[in-house]
Amino acid sequence: MQLAYRTQRVAYPYFLVALPLFLLQVVVGIWLAASYAFTMPQWLVDALPFGTTRAIHTNLLVLWLLLGFMGSTYFMVPEETERDIFSPRLAYLQLIILAGTGVAAVVGFVFGWTKGRPLLEIPHPLDYLIVVGALIFLFNVGMTMIRGRRFTITQGALLGGLVFLALMYLFNLPFYRNLTIDWYYWWWVIHLWVEGAWELVAAALTAWILMKITGVPRKVVEKWLYVELGLFLFTGIAGTGHHYYWLGAPDYWLWVGGIFSALEPLPIVLMLLDAMRFMRKRQIQTNNRVVYTFATGMAVLHLIGAGVWGFVHTLPMINYYTHGSQITVAHGHLAFFGAYVLLNLMFFYYAIPKLKGVETFKESRGVVAFWWTSLTMIAMTLAFSVAGILQTYIERVMGMGYMTAQAQMRFWFAILVVLGGLFLIGLVILIWDLFRLRPLEDLEQRA
Ligand code: HEM
Ligand code: HEM
Ligand SMILES: [Fe+2]
Repeated sequence: MQLAYRTQRVAYPYFLVALPLFLLQVVVGIWLAASYAFTMPQWLVDALPFGTTRAIHTNLLVLWLLLGFMGSTYFMVPEETERDIFSPRLAYLQLIILAGTGVAAVVGFVFGWTKGRPLLEIPHPLDYLIVVGALIFLFNVGMTMIRGRRFTITQGALLGGLVFLALMYLFNLPFYRNLTIDWYYWWWVIHLWVEGAWELVAAALTAWILMKITGVPRKVVEKWLYVELGLFLFTGIAGTGHHYYWLGAPDYWLWVGGIFSALEPLPIVLMLLDAMRFMRKRQIQTNNRVVYTFATGMAVLHLIGAGVWGFVHTLPMINYYTHGSQITVAHGHLAFFGAYVLLNLMFFYYAIPKLKGVETFKESRGVVAFWWTSLTMIAMTLAFSVAGILQTYIERVMGMGYMTAQAQMRFWFAILVVLGGLFLIGLVILIWDLFRLRPLEDLEQRA
């Protein structure tokens, strides 16, 4: 099978770089849980402090997810615009700049070279390289769309999300001497990324995949993109207020933040339900079981991780107790996993077979990898949540000491080490499957 456009091939190296970074992220995650569960020798703590490994874990996450989005964009845009990518060379150059900068940053963390802002520890000078990489990306995608034969709302939502994503990163560049102000703008990046820009990117990529694998007409899925755009403006932006409780912002934010943020993940779920309704009515079956599994799983876990686990601590009177606890961490894991990890994996399972020229392949391994990683991540979220409830109750309701709470939480981190190990096995199956995909005919011949 041929790719519709030759330059879609630039997506492949993005995926090839993203997946091993994901693997490394998870290994470091298990290490983090182990450092809560067991007492490490002091020399090891000195060599690799918790703050350093945490920075590696979270920055690798952001890096590989972004590389995945970019690869997916390069794969999708030619088919949407009906034009090849403006410059494949620039796309490769951009990958080298961004992946190189990311890896340099992670190595730098080990030597204490860090800006110190959680999730965005990348040191200042390297930020400029990120900006250069992002500008090349936007230029390349923008030029492809300008020269395209067709403009669709799917492309528009994608480009809008990507431009907003890049703009928000600029708030990470200055440093404010007043730490409260610094944190205030930190949220503009963190929150407006995951609950604003990335949601738009996710909705656009999901709309496109649904059109491809279900045969549902464009207008059925695209109308939800308008809803997503509207909600992004109302809930995503106003919802930033759920982070202002602790920053000395005016107290009307308590209500604005609490109410608006609860509605965010709805459009993608509604898009999928609408597509399913359409398929049932016309008795259409999906032509790609494994991608469909990832798509439904994503919609459900996005709703639970971001919507439910986000909502439980979004109201001010609850956040008063849970702020910055393991409840936050539980939400962080399931929301990132449900919304953006599964989104990327869904796209990889759609694009990689095509990039390899594989028409039909054994889909069952991908489905197993989906259930394996999803169920272990749900279990991890529950374990983080139990640790968080203990922490909140002992420390903040009972007012007892930090270490008293930690002593009770330890057991749950030991469980997390085990669950993390299980997650890792599922991930290895997934990566192994994606890298070794062979056409079904080959497999039959060999048997
Ligand atoms: C896919 C979307 C989302 C992702 C990936 C995500 C991820 C995260 C992460 C990683 C943090 C922790 C940041 C830190 O302090 O280090 C966080 C905090 C928070 N999230 Fe989300 N989130 C999402 C959507 C939502 C939604 C929809 C809500 C509300 C319904 C929400 C409510 C909150 C709140 C209230 C906090 C602050 C917790 C605290 O005070 O410690 N999130 N989110
Ligand atoms: C599978 C094994 C994993 C384990 C054992 C693990 C464990 C941990 C631990 C212990 C922390 C530090 C929490 C703290 O500061 O107290 C952490 C942070 C974090 N991890 Fe993982 N992790 C794993 C995989 C993942 C995956 C797959 C994702 C992406 C979905 C992820 C996303 C995050 C995020 C966003 C944070 C920051 C949370 C926050 O600031 O609230 N982790 N992880
Ligand atoms: Fe937020």
